[in-house]
Amino acid sequence: MSVLDLTQPRAWIAEATGVAVLTGAGISAESGIPTFRGPGGLWNNYKPEDLASPEAFVRDPRLVWEWYNWRRELVSKASPNAAHDALVKLEIKKRIYTLITQNVDGLHDRAGSGKILRLHGDIWRLRCTACGANWPDRPVPLPKLPPHCQCGGVARPNVVWFGEPLPDGMMKEAEHAVESAPVLLVIGTSANVYPAASLIPFAKQSGAKVIEINTDDTAYTDHVDCALRGPAGELLPALLA
Ligand code: APR
Repeated sequence: MSVLDLTQPRAWIAEATGVAVLTGAGISAESGIPTFRGPGGLWNNYKPEDLASPEAFVRDPRLVWEWYNWRRELVSKASPNAAHDALVKLEIKKRIYTLITQNVDGLHDRAGSGKILRLHGDIWRLRCTACGANWPDRPVPLPKLPPHCQCGGVARPNVVWFGEPLPDGMMKEAEHAVESAPVLLVIGTSANVYPAASLIPFAKQSGAKVIEINTDDTAYTDHVDCALRGPAGELLPALLA
């Protein structure tokens, strides 16, 4: 079904004992944060292999940090939007609720979401490439590039780069959350990146209703139960009102 009729998806959400939510860069687009793919997407202007891979970091840690410093500055000037806020209200209403995000921008946290699984890490945490320590880090701009750990090791952003596995147990936790919820909301993701995107067919196999909110078709539009087209900042408050 591909209409802007909210009656059915609203009923599914209202009846559901629990809801799982999968978000991507599109939910932060209305906060002024560029997405990765599609019009104006970061990967149109930058090569992920030059900026978001362990090889790139070994090759040129300063270049990688200049890019993350720029993204941190962008995010620090942004605010959560109505879509982030609507999810905070949904979390309060639902006994069983998990927000699974691919975003590293921290806008869900700033909106007040609690039950968050950060599949791809957090741009506001650093990790030491020598001792493995990781810690919260907020200065904008970063005083020194690349930043270093107290042990002297070079620090990297605590995010998951292309070719790297997700943190141990993270995918199991996400699958368990999806399995436990009769509804999966998929918001602002092109569903091209794995293993995150695998949660959509996994939800279908678990018998859940999958509701997609996106301004455009995605890799899984033909497999979801309801595809709502429009900006998340407008559609989500209307859907969850
Ligand atoms: N509301 C809803 N959806 C939107 C909006 C909006 N205002 N603006 C854009 N979109 C949609 C686009 O149509 C697209 O389908 O958001 C999606 C963004 O897709 P991507 O840029 O591919 O981002 P995402 O799916 O989160 O990427 C996954 O890839 O680059 C890596 O690690 C990075 O976590 C990221 C992962």
